[in-house]
Amino acid sequence: MEQLPPRADFDNVVALTGAGISVAAGLGTFRGPDGLWTIAPDVERAMHAEYVPGNIDLMWQVWGGMHEQAQEAGPTPAHRALAVVQAQVITQNVDGLHHTAGSHDTIEIHGSAGRARCLLCPWNGPAVEAARASGDPRPRCPRCGELVRPSVVLFGESLDEAALAAAQHAAVSADLFLAVGTSGRVAPASWLAPMARAAGATVINIDPVPGDPGPAFHHQVTGDAQQVLADWAG
Ligand code: APR
Repeated sequence: MEQLPPRADFDNVVALTGAGISVAAGLGTFRGPDGLWTIAPDVERAMHAEYVPGNIDLMWQVWGGMHEQAQEAGPTPAHRALAVVQAQVITQNVDGLHHTAGSHDTIEIHGSAGRARCLLCPWNGPAVEAARASGDPRPRCPRCGELVRPSVVLFGESLDEAALAAAQHAAVSADLFLAVGTSGRVAPASWLAPMARAAGATVINIDPVPGDPGPAFHHQVTGDAQQVLADWAG
């Protein structure tokens, strides 16, 4: 297993994280033999915009459940390590664990399951506000009473343009770009490592599954992000 280079050798560390970094908090990954989609195929309905609003209960069950589980478990050593080394975090995860770990400027490019937005009016805010306002199991808008959905980006929806621009700016400004716990299969997040490489960064993948992470990467550290990042942050 190759090691990560010393943190002190870099000025601007950027980490793109995926589901793998939150496995230790009890959350599943999406793909692979024990991925959510393999063990519970109906979960995928919660991830596609074409099924909204019919899938809104499933969305709260999947995304709301994921966020609750994460907040109960709390950040993992890997989330904390990225905060300690003051990495700029870009995450595909919607569990809020990087913020809780202290990476308060995390760029949540797939949104957050801790936030909700109204299906009808412009309201958006903390999901707990909607739950409190509703008085029924289906969280409703505190402003107009309509149903609300988790503020997560679904397949078929575009990312928040400001978040994507911030992520791309961070990637091309990095001198060390780490991809942590992501299969790198979903665009536009998967464009970031190649952008960082083209801008001259050292680009390293962290994943326990051995393999070639692709041409954007200088190498892979094959291991559990929990161990790799906790050791690296010292
Ligand atoms: N440490 C590091 N990596 C890990 C660990 C671990 N302990 N455990 C699993 N992994 C790796 C897996 O090997 C896999 O490569 O995490 C990766 C998870 O990949 P995916 O399940 O595809 O998750 P992700 O890349 O985050 O998915 C991207 O797709 O489903 C959509 O919007 C959803 O944000 C998600 C996006």
